[in-house]
Amino acid sequence: MPQAEIGIFGGSGFYRFLENVEEVWVETPYGAPSDKVSLAEVEGRRVAFLPRHGRDHRLPPHRINYRANLWAMKELGVTRVIGPCAAGSLQPHVRPGDLVVSDQFVNRTWGREDTFYEGPIVTHISAADPYCPELRPLALEAAGQVGFRAHDGGTVVVVQGPRFSTRAESKEFQAQGWEVINMTQYPEVILARELGMCYLNLALITDYDVGLEGHPEVRPVSHQEVMRVFQENNDRLRELLQRLVARIPRERGCACGQALESARP
Ligand code: ADE
Repeated sequence: MPQAEIGIFGGSGFYRFLENVEEVWVETPYGAPSDKVSLAEVEGRRVAFLPRHGRDHRLPPHRINYRANLWAMKELGVTRVIGPCAAGSLQPHVRPGDLVVSDQFVNRTWGREDTFYEGPIVTHISAADPYCPELRPLALEAAGQVGFRAHDGGTVVVVQGPRFSTRAESKEFQAQGWEVINMTQYPEVILARELGMCYLNLALITDYDVGLEGHPEVRPVSHQEVMRVFQENNDRLRELLQRLVARIPRERGCACGQALESARP
């Protein structure tokens, strides 16, 4: 099995990242990952790339086998997972084209397989700070260098999909002060944590969800709009990832690897 230290998930509108790749199907106890994993060297580091919806975008958010995807990364030796995703904004100051380096999530999905621990081994992992504190500042620096308006922290509410939200749902999320809305962060982030891997989210803002109060010209989000804005920002995102990969320290200075130690009796 080839090995990698950094794993990157591709999201809506982002299906390829690496060149001169070696491709592998990784078998897992949870079934098949979304696609073959591509491995290659970037800036002298071994990177694995997996499009979470499949490279032909055949998997909707609620049908992604998140456990298989994360298990595959772990199997390849990955210790840091980077999860870029398309996301809507719930607040006027977070604009389409911006990047939010999330620091919290709220889960509004249901029925997804969201743990590797279903007994007889029982764990209760802390989700207080689910995003890696060492990777977040590195990502912000790299984002600034490639010209993103980047936000340091933000709460992403993760909805079940595949439909977008009603005006009433969106209003509730806005009123809570949450910044970002997406369909795939949960359970991806928490499964990485259960496997002792660091997780970083890069939420690329593609829309204002149902619109923007007082701006009738801003129409409710459509899937086409999400893909269009994401594709417009693809080159910048690639550049950001390259710079980020280059600056990730080889040794981990965070506690993500010890997340399980206090999770068991
Ligand atoms: N992904 C991109 N935009 C979104 C939105 N407005 N709601 C949920 N997921 C999204």
